[in-house]
Amino acid sequence: MATVITDRSSDGSSPFDKDDTGLNRHVFIACMIAALAGLLFGLDIGVISGALPFIAKEFGLATHTQEWVVSSMMFGAAVGAVGSGPLSRKFGRKYSLIVASILFSVGSLGCAIAGNPEILIVFRVLLGLAVGVASFTAPLYLSEIAPQRLRGSLISMYQLMITIGIVVAFLSDTAFSYEGQWRWMLGVITIPALILFIGVLMLPRSPRWLALQGRHVEAKQVLALLRGCDVSAKKELEAIRESLKIKQSGWSLFKSNSNCRRAVYLGIVLQVMQQFTGMNVVMYYAPKIFKIAGFASTEQQMWGTVIVGLVNVFATFIAIGLVDKWGRKPVLKLGFLVMAAGMAILGTLLHMGVTTPVEQYFAAFVLLIFIVGFAMSAGPLIWVLCSEIQPLKARDFGITVSTATNWIANMIVGATFLTFLQVLGNAQTFWLYAALNLVFIFVTMALIPETKGVSLEKIEQNLMKGVPLSKLGRK
Ligand code: BGC
Repeated sequence: MATVITDRSSDGSSPFDKDDTGLNRHVFIACMIAALAGLLFGLDIGVISGALPFIAKEFGLATHTQEWVVSSMMFGAAVGAVGSGPLSRKFGRKYSLIVASILFSVGSLGCAIAGNPEILIVFRVLLGLAVGVASFTAPLYLSEIAPQRLRGSLISMYQLMITIGIVVAFLSDTAFSYEGQWRWMLGVITIPALILFIGVLMLPRSPRWLALQGRHVEAKQVLALLRGCDVSAKKELEAIRESLKIKQSGWSLFKSNSNCRRAVYLGIVLQVMQQFTGMNVVMYYAPKIFKIAGFASTEQQMWGTVIVGLVNVFATFIAIGLVDKWGRKPVLKLGFLVMAAGMAILGTLLHMGVTTPVEQYFAAFVLLIFIVGFAMSAGPLIWVLCSEIQPLKARDFGITVSTATNWIANMIVGATFLTFLQVLGNAQTFWLYAALNLVFIFVTMALIPETKGVSLEKIEQNLMKGVPLSKLGRK
């Protein structure tokens, strides 16, 4: 879930939505289309778990090649995330989204008709590029067109769309699994990709990007359309121009300022933690895990996977409800604890041998508890934290680095799971993830700041004064 909030002024508010006129038709349609990009992101994460067993069978794939079929997409996404900063700056958010939707369409179609694993991997990389570009650009676009009052909920909606995309992919995989039609599983995503392409063509350009290019007349026209009021549009444009006076100088600040480096490193640590919880092991290999837990039929494995996806969607609401009540740290610590317990118990069950139906269902239940642990905490919260800790001048740079880290760590997890099962053993692999989650509780206590209710300006002041990372939220 890539939340990129780059438009906040240092007091934590949007610099350009002071005269909020609410959610009119144009904003609504634009948000729906950007959210469709989130759905596609989720579809592409979710689709591979159900398709993989059939692909492996048809091509007779070795473990290692299977891992590459999965993780080639994350490789593409890491490259896409790095490239999308310059792309969306030079050509604009709208054209970046057009590029992403073309890549989504070509990638999905290419995967569906791939005649051998090599071609499949090439098209998975292409799909990854689309996911990387979309995961950076869509939330950015959303945050630049949404009125301030609605921005928080629109960005949460984007995150929710990703989890919904995952579950829809699991469902469609299940429907096609009866006949083992993996090509349809992968190919059907071309339809939402084409809808996105057509939709994006109709989007207005981001007013903030237009202003960045000095195209103020056009920026004002778009704002007038979005806000339905000329006076608001004029004021908002002034606020945008004011905020643009702060030039992004991430790389030079990173090189020259050790405090800025601390924030970038913290972003890296946060994203590595999110991925090394092992969540995507479940997202990509759920049917395999159900198989290890004794669910022998494809039908059981597929429906188990659908339930995993549904629990992921619903538990995300727990995070949305808790994050501003309890704060980030307590929710994260609880989440890591729940995930550690889930992985530890699952490992122990596998160690003892899962044979009776009661044991099987208990193993599935424990897996779902793990999912709840992730979705209520690290899933959404890591993205929120990553966008809060970067100093304003280096925000674009910091978020690009942390987003790329997310995909690289994601790729490592996807590319090692099956090998771990073979080399370490089933139980030991889950214990490894349990141990990592335990370590993350201590990392959270030692390094992660509590940012609830603290302005971005205060966080930045503390950072630049050299206050320890865990105290960055000190008022
Ligand atoms: C993570 C993804 C993961 C998804 C699952 C996101 O926050 O970044 O890697 O697949 O959550 O819901």
